[in-house]
Amino acid sequence: MSPSDTVVAPRFAGTGTVVAPTPDEPLFELRGIHKAFGELVLFEDTSLTVRRGETLSIIGESGCGKSVWLKMMIGLVPIDAGEIYFRGDNVLLMGNEGLARLRRSVGYLFQNGALFDSMTVLDNVGYALREHTTMGDEQIRERVITCLEKVNLSRRILDQWPAELSGGMRKRVALARAIAIEPEVVLYDEPTQGLDPQSITIIAELISELQRDLDITSVLVTHDMRCAFSVSDRIAMVHERGFPYVGTPTQLGESTAPAVQEYISEALEELQSATPPE
Ligand SMILES: Nc1ncnc2c1ncn2[C@@H]1O[C@H](COP(=O)(O)OP(=O)(O)O)[C@@H](O)[C@H]1O
Ligand SMILES: [Mg+2]
Repeated sequence: MSPSDTVVAPRFAGTGTVVAPTPDEPLFELRGIHKAFGELVLFEDTSLTVRRGETLSIIGESGCGKSVWLKMMIGLVPIDAGEIYFRGDNVLLMGNEGLARLRRSVGYLFQNGALFDSMTVLDNVGYALREHTTMGDEQIRERVITCLEKVNLSRRILDQWPAELSGGMRKRVALARAIAIEPEVVLYDEPTQGLDPQSITIIAELISELQRDLDITSVLVTHDMRCAFSVSDRIAMVHERGFPYVGTPTQLGESTAPAVQEYISEALEELQSATPPE
């Protein structure tokens, strides 16, 4: 049994052994990051810390590098310069085993909620359990059912295929998959994109609940200001190749920086025009 299995097992049992977070304890630290794709420079000497237990939203114009930032955090996209630490360990110096352990601590809800089309809901949600744990079929099934219930889905969809589900249900299945392994951190990339207002509310509530009930640290990339302002402890806005604006939703809402005001009001307008009045 590997050391991380011993961590996973008691947490599955729901024994409440997770230690309460120390205020402001850094979980992820990215320092002095430089990232370019050829001529396109996305980040220059950029730093951002994610604190244990917080929900941090990353906002900013389309194409500014939000999805790339999430992938850099867990070593899925290489950086040109800078340092990345997870729980104080240098991610860039981790071997394959260290990276595997890091990724096992992290649930990732990819943009577009990509599910495996050729797998049933059971196999999609149970995927990481099969890959990363020694759980048997029956245990996996039970755990998948528990995760589906957490996202308000019934066990009746276990044997269904992604194509048979609505967009909102697929997002929730993707969310169940991201939390199946009881991650310490969940990275959500546009979890409410393309959803109807009712599904958006459900997803936003789920994100808050997961953080509260499972003590999960969340990093959320979103265009949806209603979601960002309702679920976040802090919001970080990408602007001019960095994060010049980081603060609580109240601080950002009250910011007099024109870039912040412009972005927030544009995003709110976009949201209103996409949302039919109730
Ligand atoms: N692997 C890649 N190779 C080249 N360009 C990329 C790659 N990944 C992302 N980009 C570019 O980087 C920019 C930022 O992408 P992304 O992080 O997806 O933006 P967003 O903030 O909308 O999530 C985009 O212009 C995108 O085309
Ligand atoms: Mg993106």
